[in-house]
Amino acid sequence: MLKYILFFAAAICLTQAKHEEYFGHSLYGVRVHTMEQAQLLIGLVERLYLDIWSYPNPLNEGLILVAPNKKAEFEKFVLAINATCRIDTMNIKEKLDLEDQLMEEAHKKSNASRSERFGLSFDVIHRFAVVDRYLVDVANRFPRVARVVSAGRSVEGRDIKYLRLSTDNFTNRNKPVIFIQSLLHAREWVTLPVTLWAIQELVINVTDQDLIRDIDWIILPIANPDGYEFSHTTTRMWRKNRRRGHHASCVGVDPNRNYDYFWGTASSRDPCSETFHGPRAFSEPETQITRNIINAFRDRMRLYLDIHSFGSMILFGFAAPAPGRMPPNVDTLRSVGTQMARAIDAVKWRNHPNYRVGNVAQLLSVASGGGTDWALHVMPNRLSYAYELPAYRNQRTVNGFLVEPAFIRQAGFETWRGIRVAARFVVRNRALFED
Ligand SMILES: *[C@@H]1O[C@H](CO)[C@@H](O)[C@H](O)[C@H]1NC(C)=O
Ligand SMILES: *[C@@H]1O[C@H](CO)[C@@H](O)[C@H](O)[C@H]1NC(C)=O
Ligand SMILES: *[C@@H]1O[C@H](CO)[C@@H](O)[C@H](O)[C@H]1NC(C)=O
Ligand SMILES: *[C@@H]1O[C@H](CO)[C@@H](O)[C@H](O)[C@H]1NC(C)=O
Ligand SMILES: [Zn+2]
Repeated sequence: MLKYILFFAAAICLTQAKHEEYFGHSLYGVRVHTMEQAQLLIGLVERLYLDIWSYPNPLNEGLILVAPNKKAEFEKFVLAINATCRIDTMNIKEKLDLEDQLMEEAHKKSNASRSERFGLSFDVIHRFAVVDRYLVDVANRFPRVARVVSAGRSVEGRDIKYLRLSTDNFTNRNKPVIFIQSLLHAREWVTLPVTLWAIQELVINVTDQDLIRDIDWIILPIANPDGYEFSHTTTRMWRKNRRRGHHASCVGVDPNRNYDYFWGTASSRDPCSETFHGPRAFSEPETQITRNIINAFRDRMRLYLDIHSFGSMILFGFAAPAPGRMPPNVDTLRSVGTQMARAIDAVKWRNHPNYRVGNVAQLLSVASGGGTDWALHVMPNRLSYAYELPAYRNQRTVNGFLVEPAFIRQAGFETWRGIRVAARFVVRNRALFED
């Protein structure tokens, strides 16, 4: 008995020792009325090294995580600029512990026999090593449609793999190519089931034959593996990659500010910032890999999807250099975006908001060096979107970036409904995309 009690005590200490760095950090909801207030607030976030979970703008309450020793200054500033704030979550560490507990229970219940047969399960968030092995397995089990490619190594040397899915090994040059990527931002765990679901639907449990017959697919599930693993082992809210050497103690480049489109004009040069853009455009292997894939297939690529979380939004460029600068094919982007959103809304959870569709600078914030901007720049007239998947805003369980295990399957399922609409659109509207 004593042994059990000691074991139990040790287990509790272990869970409590995790997320210590977040003890007393509060998540604030912030409302602004003007873009000017939003800009002032973002300036404060950069000065105090706060963590933006969701950008404040007049349409959208922002969510900002604030350390205990910065709360007084933060609240004073919010008052001074005539914005308003509320405390959404007093001590975020409690939510991080709760997420661990929910995930642990989900892992215990996870059905291994099911995943053997159908591919990776959708009841837990899988780690890098599991996904990495899975991509190789899929290629071995389905050699006629799936091929695994090692695209290069991350900063810490992890092999970044993607699947090429095609019924004719990418030899039919008339077929459109679609590229989907998830986990460019490390902490956005809920994005992983979206790419895993695509693999399931296109290779393992194929119900829409036309999608694999008429299209060649590139699926890259873990675009930033170092950051992703670090968000599991150490710092749950890690966003960037794990590049060292630009500062004595601050680590990481924000990959989604590192692409070569107005690079460095609306991002941070400070290595301690969450939006540090790196020493030059494409300095990071994680962004070079996306670039190389798009360059290799861009004559045929019709759709690029970069899956992020959170906020229930489908976003298109340009994010830089100015708000409201629209790409030439804005009407098509908006129309297909809206069709995707409707398809998801039709099957979404009822307590989640409808998806919003629009220009990223208008719905979120101006930002330079983003991947979807660069893709739209080098593939003019094609479709390039960032998804922001739905967040939890449930006070009783987890919120924001934190994942409720019950939502994992739904995230994969509902997002695929949207992707499917865009996929069929590019097949049926070939003429629209001719150069
Ligand atoms: C806030 O309101 C005060 C009083 O109405 C005004 O003097 C000040 O300029 C406002 N500040 C901002 C940033 O809007
Ligand atoms: C696991 O999956 C198998 C095969 O689908 C099924 O027969 C079994 O009932 C499942 N077990 C649990 C606990 O869900
Ligand atoms: C598919 O094409 C690649 C070259 O792009 C080649 O290396 C590979 O052997 C091909 N696979 C099959 C099964 O033909
Ligand atoms: C396979 O797809 C069908 C149709 O979408 C679905 O009803 C079924 O649950 C799927 N099977 C698995 C194991 O996911
Ligand atoms: Zn993101």
